[in-house]
Amino acid sequence: MLRFLTAGESHGKCLIGILEGMVSNLPLSEADINKELARRQEGYGRGERMKIEKDTVEILSGLRKGKTIGSPIALMINNKSTEFFDQVVTKLRPGHADLAGALKYNTGDIRNILERSSARETAMRVAIGAICKKFLAQFKVIVSSKVEEIGGEKNKPRFNAVIDEAKEALDSVGGIFEIKIVNVPAGLGSHVHYDRRLNALLASALMSIPAIKGVEVGLGFEASRHRGSKVHDEIFYEKGKFVHKTNNAGGIEGGMTNGEPIILKAAMKPIATLVKPLKSVDFKSKKATSAHIERADTCAVEAAAVIGEAMAAFVLTDAFLQKFGGDSLEEIRWRL
Ligand SMILES: Cc1cc2nc3c(=O)[nH]c(=O)nc-3n(C[C@H](O)[C@H](O)[C@H](O)COP(=O)(O)O)c2cc1C
Repeated sequence: MLRFLTAGESHGKCLIGILEGMVSNLPLSEADINKELARRQEGYGRGERMKIEKDTVEILSGLRKGKTIGSPIALMINNKSTEFFDQVVTKLRPGHADLAGALKYNTGDIRNILERSSARETAMRVAIGAICKKFLAQFKVIVSSKVEEIGGEKNKPRFNAVIDEAKEALDSVGGIFEIKIVNVPAGLGSHVHYDRRLNALLASALMSIPAIKGVEVGLGFEASRHRGSKVHDEIFYEKGKFVHKTNNAGGIEGGMTNGEPIILKAAMKPIATLVKPLKSVDFKSKKATSAHIERADTCAVEAAAVIGEAMAAFVLTDAFLQKFGGDSLEEIRWRL
């Protein structure tokens, strides 16, 4: 079983990650991971924080002479921006974990909640996902993403203008991104039990990204608006292979990959922290106030897409290892 844990606060010392269950003999370097971390920091509409941080990873364990050795891989990413860590926050921010977290964890200092609920944690998920992407690439399985919509706008050349307009209005926007995974072998996941269905596992992984409010597999919600004859992918047998000529299922039927590319979409809500803050309440005094403002992005859909790739790569790597097993890269090659 492949699993990972992360630790670390947004303005704490660093982020820590441990990936357990990765095979031995996978070539891996810090540069492989840094490349993905840089992609997460890009994208039009990001705020000041991304100008301060230049994320790089340190691999602390699980690697010798440029290859994994089968032991847990521990990673560290330092935070440069630590100046807010001791600052008390009592003004609740709508759209954040603040109110629910303060009630749940019995704290009057909202910073105890916001430091961990911040999407800063996803930098480590991208680092973990970079290792999974490197693993999948050994078998030519490639995970990619693209932004499909920003603030309801589908016309790509207009994306930056939509973000600029929101910024000028002291507001924010969300959007939709697509994840595509190609060269996926058939039979990953399973129909036999709810917690082995790959579509459910992928949807859960994408929904775990902060601000993601919906996930679609293949045609998704659109499938419900058409008749069956227009939705289901017909099966053909050509040149010794089963093939589909359409891929409305998004590469997954009955919770298993069917050999077609996996297509997923995720919807991100607009950034919750607004420069023109929303009405709120001070948690301590219970008096009406405006929401606390910390540096914020206007739009982070491009970054969310990179995080989506990482989460999808992790789930797929786990499914791949479950099907083909093995403790070393070579053992999987023999079994494929
Ligand atoms: C890459 C990325 C960057 C984000 N940046 C911000 C931000 O700058 N300001 C903000 O208020 N929310 C930001 N968010 C969203 C919040 O983290 C998220 O909405 C909040 O933690 C509440 O979680 P929920 O939306 O899943 O309920 C970001 C999310 C992602 C994925």
